[in-house]
Amino acid sequence: MTATTAERTICLVPGDGVGQEVIPAAAEVLAALGLELRFVEASAGFAHFEQTGEAMPETTLADVAAAGLALFGATSSPSRKVAGYRSPILVMRRTFQLYANLRPTQSLPGAFSRPGLDFLIVRENTEGLYAGRERMEGEAAIAERVITPQATERIARAALEQARRRAAAGRPAALTIVHKANVLSLTDGLFRDGCRRVAAEYSEVEVNECLVDTAAMRLVRDPQDFGVLVTTNLFGDILSDEAAALIGGLGVAPSANLGERVAVFEPVHGSAPDIAGQGVANPIGAVLSAALLLEHIEQPAAAERVRQAVHAALQAGYRPADLGGRATTRDVTRAILENL
Ligand code: NAI
Ligand code: MG
Repeated sequence: MTATTAERTICLVPGDGVGQEVIPAAAEVLAALGLELRFVEASAGFAHFEQTGEAMPETTLADVAAAGLALFGATSSPSRKVAGYRSPILVMRRTFQLYANLRPTQSLPGAFSRPGLDFLIVRENTEGLYAGRERMEGEAAIAERVITPQATERIARAALEQARRRAAAGRPAALTIVHKANVLSLTDGLFRDGCRRVAAEYSEVEVNECLVDTAAMRLVRDPQDFGVLVTTNLFGDILSDEAAALIGGLGVAPSANLGERVAVFEPVHGSAPDIAGQGVANPIGAVLSAALLLEHIEQPAAAERVRQAVHAALQAGYRPADLGGRATTRDVTRAILENL
Protein backbone atom coordinates (compact mmCIF):
# COMPACT_ATOMS: atom_id res chain seq x y z
CA MET A 1 0.00 0.00 0.00
CA THR A 2 1.53 3.29 -1.04
CA ALA A 3 1.43 6.40 1.09
CA THR A 4 -0.61 9.26 -0.25
CA THR A 5 -2.03 12.54 0.92
CA ALA A 6 -4.90 12.35 -1.58
CA GLU A 7 -8.41 11.55 -0.42
CA ARG A 8 -8.80 7.96 0.79
CA THR A 9 -11.99 5.96 0.72
CA ILE A 10 -12.81 3.64 3.60
CA CYS A 11 -15.45 0.97 3.17
CA LEU A 12 -17.48 0.53 6.37
CA VAL A 13 -18.90 -2.95 6.87
CA PRO A 14 -20.67 -2.92 10.26
CA GLY A 15 -22.14 -6.44 9.93
CA ASP A 16 -24.37 -7.84 12.67
CA GLY A 17 -25.09 -7.17 16.34
CA VAL A 18 -22.76 -4.75 18.09
CA GLY A 19 -20.92 -4.22 14.80
CA GLN A 20 -23.83 -1.88 13.97
CA GLU A 21 -23.00 0.12 17.10
CA VAL A 22 -19.20 0.22 17.23
CA ILE A 23 -18.39 0.82 13.55
CA PRO A 24 -20.41 4.07 13.35
CA ALA A 25 -18.59 5.17 16.52
CA ALA A 26 -15.17 4.46 14.99
CA ALA A 27 -16.18 6.18 11.74
CA GLU A 28 -17.25 9.25 13.70
CA VAL A 29 -13.82 9.40 15.34
CA LEU A 30 -12.08 9.07 11.95
CA ALA A 31 -14.31 11.74 10.43
CA ALA A 32 -13.48 14.16 13.26
CA LEU A 33 -9.74 14.14 12.49
CA GLY A 34 -9.94 16.59 9.60
CA LEU A 35 -8.20 14.20 7.18
CA GLU A 36 -9.34 13.69 3.62
CA LEU A 37 -11.33 10.54 4.23
CA ARG A 38 -14.48 9.44 2.42
CA PHE A 39 -16.76 6.66 3.65
CA VAL A 40 -18.90 4.17 1.77
CA GLU A 41 -21.09 1.73 3.67
CA ALA A 42 -21.66 -1.88 2.61
CA SER A 43 -23.71 -4.80 3.92
CA ALA A 44 -22.62 -8.26 5.04
CA GLY A 45 -23.59 -10.79 7.65
CA PHE A 46 -26.25 -13.14 8.90
CA ALA A 47 -29.13 -10.64 8.84
CA HIS A 48 -28.26 -9.85 5.22
CA PHE A 49 -28.07 -13.60 4.49
CA GLU A 50 -31.53 -14.17 5.93
CA GLN A 51 -32.94 -11.40 3.75
CA THR A 52 -31.12 -12.17 0.51
CA GLY A 53 -29.51 -15.62 0.74
CA GLU A 54 -26.07 -14.01 0.63
CA ALA A 55 -23.82 -13.28 3.60
CA MET A 56 -21.14 -11.51 1.57
CA PRO A 57 -22.60 -9.78 -1.49
CA GLU A 58 -20.38 -9.32 -4.55
CA THR A 59 -21.14 -5.58 -4.37
CA THR A 60 -19.59 -5.42 -0.89
CA LEU A 61 -16.51 -7.29 -2.08
CA ALA A 62 -16.28 -4.85 -5.01
CA ASP A 63 -16.59 -1.83 -2.67
CA VAL A 64 -13.85 -3.19 -0.40
CA ALA A 65 -11.61 -3.97 -3.39
CA ALA A 66 -12.14 -0.48 -4.84
CA ALA A 67 -11.37 1.27 -1.56
CA GLY A 68 -8.50 -1.03 -0.60
CA LEU A 69 -9.41 -0.22 2.99
CA ALA A 70 -12.25 -1.50 5.15
CA LEU A 71 -13.42 -1.15 8.71
CA PHE A 72 -15.35 -4.29 9.56
CA GLY A 73 -17.46 -4.86 12.68
CA ALA A 74 -18.41 -8.50 13.15
CA THR A 75 -20.97 -10.90 11.82
CA SER A 76 -22.96 -13.66 13.47
CA SER A 77 -22.21 -17.18 12.32
CA PRO A 78 -24.55 -20.08 12.81
CA SER A 79 -22.75 -22.69 14.98
CA ARG A 80 -23.92 -25.50 12.67
CA LYS A 81 -23.43 -25.64 8.93
CA VAL A 82 -26.14 -23.65 7.10
CA ALA A 83 -26.24 -24.28 3.35
CA GLY A 84 -24.87 -21.33 1.41
CA TYR A 85 -23.57 -19.42 4.43
CA ARG A 86 -19.93 -18.38 4.42
CA SER A 87 -18.44 -16.14 7.08
CA PRO A 88 -17.81 -12.71 5.49
CA ILE A 89 -14.49 -12.11 7.24
CA LEU A 90 -13.23 -15.50 6.05
CA VAL A 91 -14.40 -14.70 2.52
CA MET A 92 -12.52 -11.39 2.63
CA ARG A 93 -9.38 -13.01 4.05
CA ARG A 94 -9.42 -15.55 1.23
CA THR A 95 -10.54 -13.29 -1.64
CA PHE A 96 -8.02 -10.57 -0.87
CA GLN A 97 -5.32 -12.89 0.50
CA LEU A 98 -5.22 -10.99 3.79
CA TYR A 99 -2.39 -13.14 5.00
CA ALA A 100 -1.17 -11.12 7.98
CA ASN A 101 -3.37 -10.69 11.03
CA LEU A 102 -1.85 -8.13 13.39
CA ARG A 103 -3.17 -8.14 16.93
CA PRO A 104 -1.43 -5.60 19.15
CA THR A 105 -1.72 -5.54 22.95
CA GLN A 106 -0.96 -2.20 24.57
CA SER A 107 -1.75 -1.34 28.18
CA LEU A 108 -4.70 0.96 28.85
CA PRO A 109 -5.13 3.23 31.85
CA GLY A 110 -7.26 1.56 34.53
CA ALA A 111 -7.14 -1.31 36.99
CA PHE A 112 -8.73 -3.60 34.36
CA SER A 113 -5.46 -3.55 32.35
CA ARG A 114 -2.02 -4.83 33.26
CA PRO A 115 0.55 -2.03 33.03
CA GLY A 116 3.69 -1.97 30.90
CA LEU A 117 2.53 -4.09 27.96
CA ASP A 118 3.37 -3.34 24.34
CA PHE A 119 3.51 -6.50 22.28
CA LEU A 120 2.17 -7.63 18.93
CA ILE A 121 0.88 -11.03 17.83
CA VAL A 122 1.33 -11.64 14.09
CA ARG A 123 -0.96 -14.49 13.11
CA GLU A 124 -0.78 -16.32 9.78
CA ASN A 125 -4.25 -15.87 8.37
CA THR A 126 -4.65 -18.12 5.32
CA GLU A 127 -3.73 -21.71 6.13
CA GLY A 128 -2.77 -23.90 9.12
CA LEU A 129 -5.69 -25.71 10.71
CA TYR A 130 -8.11 -23.16 9.18
CA ALA A 131 -7.23 -24.18 5.61
CA GLY A 132 -10.79 -25.46 5.23
CA ARG A 133 -9.78 -29.08 4.71
CA GLU A 134 -12.22 -30.92 6.92
CA ARG A 135 -13.80 -34.21 5.96
CA MET A 136 -15.35 -37.38 7.31
CA GLU A 137 -13.60 -40.74 7.01
CA GLY A 138 -16.11 -43.28 8.12
CA GLU A 139 -17.09 -42.17 11.59
CA ALA A 140 -13.97 -40.07 12.12
CA ALA A 141 -13.86 -36.32 11.48
CA ILE A 142 -10.51 -35.15 10.12
CA ALA A 143 -9.02 -31.67 9.68
CA GLU A 144 -5.77 -31.18 7.78
CA ARG A 145 -3.20 -28.64 8.93
CA VAL A 146 -1.48 -27.03 5.95
CA ILE A 147 1.81 -25.13 6.28
CA THR A 148 3.57 -23.96 3.10
CA PRO A 149 6.98 -22.31 2.76
CA GLN A 150 5.42 -19.44 0.77
CA ALA A 151 2.87 -18.50 3.42
CA THR A 152 5.44 -19.01 6.17
CA GLU A 153 7.97 -16.72 4.54
CA ARG A 154 5.51 -13.93 3.86
CA ILE A 155 4.15 -13.97 7.43
CA ALA A 156 7.70 -14.09 8.82
CA ARG A 157 8.59 -11.08 6.70
CA ALA A 158 5.49 -9.19 7.85
CA ALA A 159 6.41 -9.89 11.48
CA LEU A 160 10.05 -8.93 10.99
CA GLU A 161 9.10 -5.67 9.26
CA GLN A 162 6.92 -4.84 12.26
CA ALA A 163 9.78 -5.78 14.60
CA ARG A 164 12.19 -3.57 12.67
CA ARG A 165 9.81 -0.58 12.88
CA ARG A 166 9.23 -1.14 16.57
CA ALA A 167 12.97 -1.42 17.23
CA ALA A 168 13.51 1.90 15.44
CA ALA A 169 10.84 3.49 17.66
CA GLY A 170 12.42 2.08 20.84
CA ARG A 171 9.50 -0.28 21.49
CA PRO A 172 9.81 -3.96 22.54
CA ALA A 173 10.80 -5.68 19.30
CA ALA A 174 12.32 -9.12 19.94
CA LEU A 175 10.69 -11.73 17.70
CA THR A 176 9.36 -14.93 19.29
CA ILE A 177 8.50 -17.76 16.89
CA VAL A 178 5.63 -19.67 18.54
CA HIS A 179 5.15 -23.28 17.40
CA LYS A 180 4.71 -26.88 18.50
CA ALA A 181 7.48 -28.49 16.47
CA ASN A 182 8.20 -31.05 19.18
CA VAL A 183 4.89 -32.76 18.29
CA LEU A 184 4.01 -31.34 14.85
CA SER A 185 7.52 -31.87 13.57
CA LEU A 186 6.80 -31.58 9.83
CA THR A 187 4.31 -28.70 9.78
CA ASP A 188 5.71 -26.62 12.61
CA GLY A 189 9.27 -27.66 11.81
CA LEU A 190 8.72 -26.06 8.40
CA PHE A 191 7.15 -22.99 10.02
CA ARG A 192 9.96 -22.53 12.53
CA ASP A 193 12.74 -23.06 10.00
CA GLY A 194 11.07 -20.75 7.47
CA CYS A 195 10.80 -17.97 10.06
CA ARG A 196 14.44 -18.50 11.06
CA ARG A 197 15.56 -18.30 7.43
CA VAL A 198 13.83 -14.95 6.86
CA ALA A 199 14.99 -13.66 10.25
CA ALA A 200 18.60 -14.12 9.17
CA GLU A 201 18.04 -11.11 6.85
CA TYR A 202 17.11 -8.93 9.85
CA SER A 203 20.29 -8.90 11.89
CA GLU A 204 19.02 -6.02 14.07
CA VAL A 205 16.06 -8.08 15.38
CA GLU A 206 16.62 -10.48 18.28
CA VAL A 207 14.95 -13.84 17.53
CA ASN A 208 13.70 -16.43 20.04
CA GLU A 209 11.34 -19.35 19.86
CA CYS A 210 8.80 -20.78 22.27
CA LEU A 211 6.46 -23.78 22.30
CA VAL A 212 2.83 -22.65 22.13
CA ASP A 213 1.81 -24.11 25.50
CA THR A 214 4.73 -22.40 27.22
CA ALA A 215 3.90 -19.19 25.34
CA ALA A 216 0.32 -19.36 26.66
CA MET A 217 1.66 -19.59 30.21
CA ARG A 218 4.29 -16.87 29.76
CA LEU A 219 1.66 -14.52 28.28
CA VAL A 220 -0.17 -14.67 31.61
CA ARG A 221 2.90 -14.67 33.84
CA ASP A 222 5.40 -12.37 32.09
CA PRO A 223 3.59 -10.62 29.20
CA GLN A 224 5.85 -7.58 29.50
CA ASP A 225 8.75 -9.72 28.20
CA PHE A 226 7.26 -10.04 24.69
CA GLY A 227 7.81 -7.81 21.64
CA VAL A 228 6.52 -9.51 18.47
CA LEU A 229 5.14 -13.05 18.38
CA VAL A 230 4.71 -14.79 15.04
CA THR A 231 2.63 -17.93 14.81
CA THR A 232 0.27 -20.12 12.81
CA ASN A 233 -3.45 -19.50 12.38
CA LEU A 234 -5.10 -21.44 15.23
CA PHE A 235 -2.38 -20.69 17.80
CA GLY A 236 -2.56 -17.00 16.92
CA ASP A 237 -6.34 -17.00 17.22
CA ILE A 238 -6.21 -18.44 20.73
CA LEU A 239 -3.18 -16.53 22.03
CA SER A 240 -4.56 -13.19 20.84
CA ASP A 241 -7.85 -13.65 22.71
CA GLU A 242 -5.75 -14.57 25.76
CA ALA A 243 -3.72 -11.41 25.22
CA ALA A 244 -6.91 -9.31 25.05
CA ALA A 245 -7.79 -10.49 28.56
CA LEU A 246 -4.62 -8.80 29.88
CA ILE A 247 -5.86 -5.33 28.90
CA GLY A 248 -9.57 -5.52 29.71
CA GLY A 249 -11.02 -8.12 27.36
CA LEU A 250 -12.42 -8.44 23.86
CA GLY A 251 -14.15 -5.05 23.94
CA VAL A 252 -10.85 -3.16 23.71
CA ALA A 253 -8.78 -5.38 21.38
CA PRO A 254 -8.09 -4.11 17.82
CA SER A 255 -6.77 -5.99 14.79
CA ALA A 256 -5.64 -5.60 11.20
CA ASN A 257 -5.86 -8.06 8.29
CA LEU A 258 -3.26 -7.10 5.72
CA GLY A 259 -2.82 -8.27 2.14
CA GLU A 260 -0.88 -6.84 -0.78
CA ARG A 261 -3.66 -4.56 -2.05
CA VAL A 262 -6.42 -4.63 0.56
CA ALA A 263 -6.36 -4.11 4.31
CA VAL A 264 -9.32 -4.81 6.60
CA PHE A 265 -9.38 -3.50 10.17
CA GLU A 266 -11.69 -5.00 12.79
CA PRO A 267 -12.19 -5.27 16.53
CA VAL A 268 -11.31 -8.78 17.71
CA HIS A 269 -14.73 -9.33 19.26
CA GLY A 270 -17.75 -10.89 17.57
CA SER A 271 -21.32 -9.65 17.19
CA ALA A 272 -22.04 -10.05 20.96
CA PRO A 273 -25.73 -10.99 20.59
CA ASP A 274 -26.08 -10.97 24.40
CA ILE A 275 -25.68 -7.16 24.54
CA ALA A 276 -26.51 -6.09 20.96
CA GLY A 277 -29.07 -3.34 20.51
CA GLN A 278 -28.73 -2.02 24.05
CA GLY A 279 -26.26 0.78 23.28
CA VAL A 280 -23.75 -0.53 25.82
CA ALA A 281 -21.11 -2.13 23.58
CA ASN A 282 -17.56 -0.98 24.15
CA PRO A 283 -16.46 0.99 21.05
CA ILE A 284 -12.75 1.05 22.02
CA GLY A 285 -11.74 -2.10 20.09
CA ALA A 286 -13.27 -0.60 16.94
CA VAL A 287 -11.78 2.86 17.58
CA LEU A 288 -8.30 1.39 18.14
CA SER A 289 -8.75 -0.63 14.92
CA ALA A 290 -9.37 2.69 13.18
CA ALA A 291 -6.07 3.90 14.70
CA LEU A 292 -4.33 0.88 13.12
CA LEU A 293 -5.91 1.89 9.80
CA LEU A 294 -4.47 5.39 10.19
CA GLU A 295 -1.01 3.96 10.82
CA HIS A 296 -1.39 1.78 7.75
CA ILE A 297 -2.14 4.80 5.53
CA GLU A 298 0.90 6.56 6.95
CA GLN A 299 -0.95 8.88 9.32
CA PRO A 300 0.92 7.99 12.54
CA ALA A 301 0.24 11.36 14.18
CA ALA A 302 -3.52 10.96 13.68
CA ALA A 303 -3.30 7.38 15.00
CA GLU A 304 -1.54 8.65 18.11
CA ARG A 305 -4.19 11.37 18.60
CA VAL A 306 -6.89 8.69 18.56
CA ARG A 307 -5.00 6.53 21.08
CA GLN A 308 -4.39 9.48 23.38
CA ALA A 309 -8.07 10.42 23.21
CA VAL A 310 -9.06 6.86 24.15
CA HIS A 311 -6.67 6.98 27.11
CA ALA A 312 -8.01 10.38 28.18
CA ALA A 313 -11.62 9.15 28.03
CA LEU A 314 -10.74 6.14 30.18
CA GLN A 315 -8.79 8.30 32.61
CA ALA A 316 -11.80 10.57 32.93
CA GLY A 317 -13.76 7.54 34.07
CA TYR A 318 -15.75 6.69 30.94
CA ARG A 319 -15.92 2.91 31.27
CA PRO A 320 -18.48 0.70 29.60
CA ALA A 321 -19.96 -2.28 31.43
CA ASP A 322 -17.34 -4.78 30.21
CA LEU A 323 -14.67 -2.67 31.95
CA GLY A 324 -16.70 -2.44 35.15
CA GLY A 325 -18.35 0.93 34.49
CA ARG A 326 -21.72 2.28 33.41
CA ALA A 327 -20.88 4.39 30.36
CA THR A 328 -22.85 3.71 27.17
CA THR A 329 -21.35 3.39 23.69
CA ARG A 330 -22.47 6.97 23.07
CA ASP A 331 -20.88 8.30 26.31
CA VAL A 332 -17.51 6.71 25.55
CA THR A 333 -17.56 7.83 21.91
CA ARG A 334 -18.44 11.40 22.89
CA ALA A 335 -15.63 11.44 25.47
CA ILE A 336 -13.14 10.21 22.85
CA LEU A 337 -14.33 12.89 20.39
CA GLU A 338 -13.99 15.60 23.03
CA ASN A 339 -10.44 14.53 23.77
CA LEU A 340 -9.23 14.39 20.17
P1 NAI B 1 -18.27 -12.24 21.10
O1 NAI B 1 -16.96 -11.58 20.96
O2 NAI B 1 -19.36 -11.74 20.26
O3 NAI B 1 -18.75 -12.13 22.64
C1 NAI B 1 -18.00 -12.70 23.70
C2 NAI B 1 -18.32 -11.92 25.00
O4 NAI B 1 -17.68 -10.64 24.92
C3 NAI B 1 -19.81 -11.66 25.19
O5 NAI B 1 -20.12 -11.74 26.56
C4 NAI B 1 -19.97 -10.24 24.69
O6 NAI B 1 -21.03 -9.55 25.31
C5 NAI B 1 -18.64 -9.62 25.05
N1 NAI B 1 -18.30 -8.55 24.10
C6 NAI B 1 -17.91 -8.72 22.80
N2 NAI B 1 -17.74 -7.52 22.22
C7 NAI B 1 -18.00 -6.60 23.15
C8 NAI B 1 -17.99 -5.17 23.15
N3 NAI B 1 -17.66 -4.45 22.05
N4 NAI B 1 -18.34 -4.53 24.29
C9 NAI B 1 -18.66 -5.23 25.39
N5 NAI B 1 -18.68 -6.55 25.47
C10 NAI B 1 -18.36 -7.24 24.35
O7 NAI B 1 -18.04 -13.80 20.85
P2 NAI B 1 -19.09 -15.01 20.84
O8 NAI B 1 -20.16 -14.79 21.85
O9 NAI B 1 -18.25 -16.21 20.90
O10 NAI B 1 -19.75 -14.96 19.39
C11 NAI B 1 -20.95 -14.25 19.09
C12 NAI B 1 -21.13 -14.25 17.58
O11 NAI B 1 -20.09 -13.50 16.97
C13 NAI B 1 -21.09 -15.64 16.95
O12 NAI B 1 -22.09 -15.72 15.97
C14 NAI B 1 -19.71 -15.71 16.34
O13 NAI B 1 -19.66 -16.57 15.22
C15 NAI B 1 -19.49 -14.27 15.94
N6 NAI B 1 -18.07 -13.87 15.81
C16 NAI B 1 -17.74 -13.14 14.71
C17 NAI B 1 -16.46 -12.69 14.54
C18 NAI B 1 -16.17 -11.91 13.31
O14 NAI B 1 -17.07 -11.61 12.54
N7 NAI B 1 -14.94 -11.50 13.08
C19 NAI B 1 -15.40 -12.95 15.52
C20 NAI B 1 -15.86 -13.70 16.67
C21 NAI B 1 -17.15 -14.14 16.80
MG1 MG C 1 -11.09 -15.17 17.63
